[in-house]
Amino acid sequence: MNKSKAQQIFGDNAEAYANSPVHVRDDSLDIIEKMLAGHNFEMALDVGTGAGFTAISISNISNTVLASDPTRPMLEQTRKTSISTNSANISVIQNIAEQIPISTNTVDLITCRKAGHHFPEFDKYIHECSRILKQKGILIIADSISPENEDLDQWLNQIELERDPSHVRNRKLSEINLILNKYHLKTIEHQLTRIHLSFNSWVGRTGVSKSYKNHIQQKFINAEPHIKEAFQIRSIDKDILFSWPCAVMKCVKSV
Ligand SMILES: C[S@@+](CC[C@H](N)C(=O)[O-])C[C@H]1O[C@@H](n2cnc3c(N)ncnc32)[C@H](O)[C@@H]1O
Repeated sequence: MNKSKAQQIFGDNAEAYANSPVHVRDDSLDIIEKMLAGHNFEMALDVGTGAGFTAISISNISNTVLASDPTRPMLEQTRKTSISTNSANISVIQNIAEQIPISTNTVDLITCRKAGHHFPEFDKYIHECSRILKQKGILIIADSISPENEDLDQWLNQIELERDPSHVRNRKLSEINLILNKYHLKTIEHQLTRIHLSFNSWVGRTGVSKSYKNHIQQKFINAEPHIKEAFQIRSIDKDILFSWPCAVMKCVKSV
């Protein structure tokens, strides 16, 4: 497999992601757990598993979990985390979300948290989810999204791209729903929350150089008031705090 930009960046920073508090647990993982409470699944798949925090969570309500990611060092982190949490029902597979090596109509649950905005062909990925899910199978998407307002959408996506060249797009909720509908996935529940970030650790995770860090920092400091308000940007000590909107969606395959 040729290494994509995402594989290079996540590969070089796999340990930072494995220790990142906003990945270990945050509101989005709590919401996923609430949405899935009372369910039990035979076969589950976690796409873009990273260090495996969502895979570990769903392993408590699934017989078998496949944790999938294209980045080998990330899968090594998943292996380590599943050993340390005694999650013996997790296996790892290396693949991109747009091409999932699993037979049609075989999976009961798919989760994907904080990863979809890295997928170059999101439409193809949702098509794959629809193909491999059984009828009435569940897809959970938890990801940072973009506001519906064009100006805010552009600012967020531009700054994310500057900080992480593997960033593809934080999509608007309306865009995601259009694609889901196209592939017979119906959103039956959704909840909005925020991903709270600190500038220093956010740029640290993608290994941004010092001079480029200053350049991005100036963009936060000099952002227009409506941008600062929308993303809750505020300076504290030697850091900047901000937040991205995040959606958790529970979808069901309807055909
Ligand atoms: C922030 S991490 C995911 C965090 C993880 N899901 C969790 O809950 O902690 C994003 C992951 O997306 C993966 N990724 C990037 N491009 C991908 C693609 N096209 N298909 C699948 N995964 C991809 C990266 O390798 C990385 O491990």
